Amino acid sequence: MLIQIISLFPEMFPPVLETSMLFKAKDKGIVEYSYINLRDFGLGKRKTVDDTPYGGGDGMLLKPEPLVAAIEAAKAYDGNESQKAKSKKQKVVLMTPRGERFNQAKAKELAQLDNLILVCARYEGYDERVTAFIDEQISIGDYVLTGGELPAMIVTDAVVRLLPGVLGGAKSTEIESFSDGKTLEFPQYTRPEDFRGMKVPDVLLKGHHAEIEKWRNKNSRAVEQN
Ligand code: ADE
Repeated sequence: MLIQIISLFPEMFPPVLETSMLFKAKDKGIVEYSYINLRDFGLGKRKTVDDTPYGGGDGMLLKPEPLVAAIEAAKAYDGNESQKAKSKKQKVVLMTPRGERFNQAKAKELAQLDNLILVCARYEGYDERVTAFIDEQISIGDYVLTGGELPAMIVTDAVVRLLPGVLGGAKSTEIESFSDGKTLEFPQYTRPEDFRGMKVPDVLLKGHHAEIEKWRNKNSRAVEQN
């Protein structure tokens, strides 16, 4: 899968995406991350990307020309050798608190794509005409951040861990427990059996698989998909 991220702060991404499982996924050729600096598409000598809102109001808005030029450049990029052969199931997703709330079902849907283009807005927002070039708008929750970069990292993490080959065998069962959208993980314990007076539940120590299964089901927290 090719994940392209359009942002004014592309340097925020490598520390997160080039670490641990997200890096391993890249190293194995399962995913390619490509960072597109919106500033490169800025207008004039000063590479302007923002302007004041018509009608007045606080702050600055991202202008449509640089954002749309960046989206078009992303769409035209085929990916490196590991991605090139893929047919292009492609989506452009804008990170915005006005978007549809992100959840596990959406992560699974996006994980089916060959090419995911995440657009990060900044300042007080963006010119509304940009949305004509966007397939979906996603919010990670009902709060307002300074930009779409952290939300884009969250979406990337949730999507990449679902790609075949990213997680190991034991972890795939964990995905199973999420897959009906209704259950979360049960509590788990490792050694020592007694930690500062807190004991591992007896049932988990006895190796009676049916009893363990029953305990785990009882202690799985139910969550709604939305
Ligand atoms: N940009 C700023 N806040 C956001 C949020 N909650 N979700 C997605 N993008 C955002």
